[in-house]
Amino acid sequence: MNAGGGRTGHRGPRFNGRVPGRATPSLPLLADPAVAGLTVTDPDILAGHVRDWTGRHVGSSPAMLRPSTVAEVAACVAACHRTATAVVPQGGNTGLVAGATPLGGEVLLHLGRLAGVEDADADAGTLVVRSGTTLADVQAAARAIGWEYGVDLAARDSATIGGTVATNAGGLHVVRHGDTRAQLLGVEAVLADGTLVGDLRGLRKDNTGYHLPGLLAGSEGTLAVVTRVALRLVTPVQDRAVALIALDDVASAVRAAGALRRSLPDLSAVELLLADGLALVQRTHGLAPPFADPSPAVLLVEVAGAPGVVDRLGAAVEGIDGVGDAVVAADPARRAALWRYREVQTEAIARVGVAHKLDVTLPAARLAAFAESVRADVLGRWPDAAVWLFGHAGDGNVHVNVTGVPAPVDGEDGVDGVDDLVLRRVAAMGGSISAEHGIGRAKVRWLHLNRTPSELAAMRRLKLALDPLGILNPGALLPPT
Ligand code: MLT
Ligand code: ZN
Repeated sequence: MNAGGGRTGHRGPRFNGRVPGRATPSLPLLADPAVAGLTVTDPDILAGHVRDWTGRHVGSSPAMLRPSTVAEVAACVAACHRTATAVVPQGGNTGLVAGATPLGGEVLLHLGRLAGVEDADADAGTLVVRSGTTLADVQAAARAIGWEYGVDLAARDSATIGGTVATNAGGLHVVRHGDTRAQLLGVEAVLADGTLVGDLRGLRKDNTGYHLPGLLAGSEGTLAVVTRVALRLVTPVQDRAVALIALDDVASAVRAAGALRRSLPDLSAVELLLADGLALVQRTHGLAPPFADPSPAVLLVEVAGAPGVVDRLGAAVEGIDGVGDAVVAADPARRAALWRYREVQTEAIARVGVAHKLDVTLPAARLAAFAESVRADVLGRWPDAAVWLFGHAGDGNVHVNVTGVPAPVDGEDGVDGVDDLVLRRVAAMGGSISAEHGIGRAKVRWLHLNRTPSELAAMRRLKLALDPLGILNPGALLPPT
């Protein structure tokens, strides 16, 4: 059965953009002069913003605010505060856990118009960009001054830098450059009452107390609204080579990923594909098989560094036990062709049906056992389902996508549903229920699997200190008290 049948609206509490307990039939925010000229209420425009990319989570919103300057963002948030209006910040709306989806009928704060590069410093290797700038534009701005930006992901043309900060996005090169948090030299943000805080000087060393960028990265719009960021850039590479390596199973792939990390200092990606996912992208996107014979597990490996990458990659692959077949590409077109097998996984799965997307990390030693058992468990319970596994083998991050699970009764995955089964299994095996997508609204009810009651209480105290009315992205990240 196609999970598309499960595409139902959230039936949680609705409060028309108002903080719970303060609901009124009209929306005082819309009468506030601060938002005049910045508000969209056209349902046709709103329709594209109230559902997440997967189509699994569909909410509603009475209005969307579209500021295009930092001052306008501050004015909008202050107006929300004055009128106790709940607001969901949204960038490119490419998230996969409903972190920017107004499931409680909140007002949307769209940051897409707050775009542009404000400063590009070739000597310092830094950029200052507005939060609505797309990741692709940030990458281009870095290249234009002879540097590179260390984060890349398939949604680069739509995902905004502010969204990647809010979710602490990982992507394809965490193994080399770390996650988004690791790129942040400074963040400027609007607090819940409209106060502007932050530092965009881009200093690499600054031990003057609490680290706002570290706090806001991964806070999912619940503590403040990011308006501008100062980014460190990474050294540009002279040469790149990409290989697809055929292996017998996930265990061999995990071992190979470890060996590659040890032997290749300029390793920039180690991505995992499995036979069914590879076959799927060949069908959906008309790609030719990469190998003469299908292989149970495939690693996509990229090396980026000084000239000689092909030789170094070739030698490293030769040193790996159990490689069945391998293809290596050095020229840009062929490299892009190999990357395509990996990059279209998400889109190909979406064509099968609305997927339960479970983005998890396992300790390397347990990744293979997890992959095997999670598939068996899901199929044992839902024989008509399909389990798609792929991800970032270098980080222990596997994306479990499940299609074909019967529609949940209440528009959400019930406590005995597939999300519950997979996430409990992850936690029991010592993993994280969210590797890089965040908690959003989709995983809130399982946050306790990874966070102790004391940690949750500390997170709540932080939230209360910075957003005492609870207007910023209510329903996301933190479970209701
Ligand atoms: C990816 O690695 O392709 C993304 O995290 C998207 C996904 O999980 O579908
Ligand atoms: Zn990913």
